[in-house]
Amino acid sequence: MTAEYWDGRYSDIGDTNVSWFQPTPENSLMLIERVSEPTAGVADIGGGAGRLVDHLLERGYHDVTVVDLSQQALNTARDRVGQAPVHWVVSDIRDWQPDRTFDVWHDRAAYHFLTDPDDQRRYWAQVRESVPVGGHVIVATFAEDGPEMCSGLPVHRYSAQGLAAAMGEGFTVLETLREEHATPAGGTQSFVWVLAQRT
Ligand SMILES: C[S@@+](CC[C@H](N)C(=O)[O-])C[C@H]1O[C@@H](n2cnc3c(N)ncnc32)[C@H](O)[C@@H]1O
Repeated sequence: MTAEYWDGRYSDIGDTNVSWFQPTPENSLMLIERVSEPTAGVADIGGGAGRLVDHLLERGYHDVTVVDLSQQALNTARDRVGQAPVHWVVSDIRDWQPDRTFDVWHDRAAYHFLTDPDDQRRYWAQVRESVPVGGHVIVATFAEDGPEMCSGLPVHRYSAQGLAAAMGEGFTVLETLREEHATPAGGTQSFVWVLAQRT
């Protein structure tokens, strides 16, 4: 999984035709607004060219960080939202070392690409460091009956319980959801969502 690979996916398919496209990320917004105010620091991990940042800005959020290994994806999002005060970070999540903490850590369909158990453990260690006690984590992955691959790459699928277990110590699950995501091509993909508090 390389930056060039993901740049190619976005430029070949187009940001509104990729299978994960959502004009309005309903679950993300519902869960983020439930646990935070617009003053919150929100990190969107693997946010890509997604529209979450647009909707958060519209709602008055002004401390949003979007992290993705694809420069192409972040350029698309940045061109769309213009001069808005967004922190754009081009990085592989496995290498990212933020110099600050976040009230909300949001990840829709990026974590599930980490199929190596060491990468998965390091990811949750990073979340524990980046989200102080009292903060919140929102993660969505393909469900156990979801696709085995996403964008041509293998993914690790989870049940809600399995995702909560993967988080390890330091998180209390507040809610789990299932979603049937309608893809632009007319298919459906089963997702599982977990909202947890850092404890
Ligand atoms: C399926 S897309 C989801 C995009 C966005 N979260 C959304 O819901 O629209 C996965 C995104 O994760 C990014 N990604 C994949 N592996 C990554 C990694 N190791 N570090 C950072 N970003 C990654 C890809 O570039 C892509 O933008």
